[in-house]
Amino acid sequence: MTRRAILRGIGHYLPARIVENAELEKRVDTSDEWIRARSGIERRHFAAEGELTSDLAIHAARAALADAGFEPAEIDAVVVATSTPDTTFPSVATIVQGALGTGGFAFDVQAVCAGFVYAMSTANAFIQAGQAQRVLVIGAETFSRIMNWEDRTTCVLFGDGAGAVVLEAGDGAGANTDAGILATDLNSDGRFRDLLYVDGGVSSTQTTGVLVMQGKEVFRHAVEKLAQTAETALAAAGLGADDVDWIVPHQANSRIITRTAQKMGVGMDRVVMTVQDHGNTSAASIPLALSVAKEQQLFKPGQVLVMEAIGGGLAWGSVVLRL
Ligand code: ACO
Repeated sequence: MTRRAILRGIGHYLPARIVENAELEKRVDTSDEWIRARSGIERRHFAAEGELTSDLAIHAARAALADAGFEPAEIDAVVVATSTPDTTFPSVATIVQGALGTGGFAFDVQAVCAGFVYAMSTANAFIQAGQAQRVLVIGAETFSRIMNWEDRTTCVLFGDGAGAVVLEAGDGAGANTDAGILATDLNSDGRFRDLLYVDGGVSSTQTTGVLVMQGKEVFRHAVEKLAQTAETALAAAGLGADDVDWIVPHQANSRIITRTAQKMGVGMDRVVMTVQDHGNTSAASIPLALSVAKEQQLFKPGQVLVMEAIGGGLAWGSVVLRL
């Protein structure tokens, strides 16, 4: 018998305000055509004034709990992946815990755009170790708050939102036909910290700072490292690209998503794509994509999903999960 983290529920929340590329044309020197051609993004959502990362996370968590059919008190751990917390501390996870009344413990994970795969891997480890039975894993971000509106190469790419899943411990046979998380792969390389960072923080400037990115370099690393981590996790699960029913990638850029799928030999008919409607929502992008795909009834029991992501650090990783 092998203890497995089984996916029981998925949900998401997007702020009401939709910002089309045309609106950005009025704010910065850009065009709808450029943004679509370079990134695939058509629109994104921005949180309203006073609407915080925790507010988005709480909405998404409620949706995932309803989908799983669990009461908050049945949850014994909350893990939130975010780089845009409400405040330096306490964690967004404890704010969610306080609002919902979940039990056990709660904490945040910060691995920027790779945050959700790091959080899923962490939750899986707690479940496998027997330290948690039911874990709420949330990706929630308000990246609109750390945009540099003087930098047109970055401010057009990001958006706000939240997605959540509920994982529950279950028994598997220890085979890759089991339902649940079959393998995870995490990597980071701090030598690349200058490729993508925020130029402020508590200990350095006592300000929040804004996002800085060397887009071309990030792009080059992304395609290579995403394909590599997905293949590593699949191999650890004893699976190959042909076994993959759905790639659910971090939604940063449609060209990165397409090239990674090509490199892996997976057709685009097996890739979930939501970047056109959400932009890059960092740690929220994979659970948002999961939730939209579920609403579109793309997923069937027994299918194999590969989630892969890369972000600032650089940090990257993947999760292989059977529904
Ligand atoms: N509108 C119009 N023109 C623009 C804009 C804009 N918003 N931004 C840049 N340009 C211009 C540039 O000034 C440049 O003009 P020039 O040729 O006259 O100098 C031209 O467009 C090309 O600029 P590049 O920066 O070379 O454009 P590139 O093709 O590299 O695309 C992009 C930029 C979209 C950022 C790309 O590099 C990319 O997608 N990188 C990956 C970034 C990413 O996805 N990061 C997220 C992953 S990690 C994470 O999620 C945090």
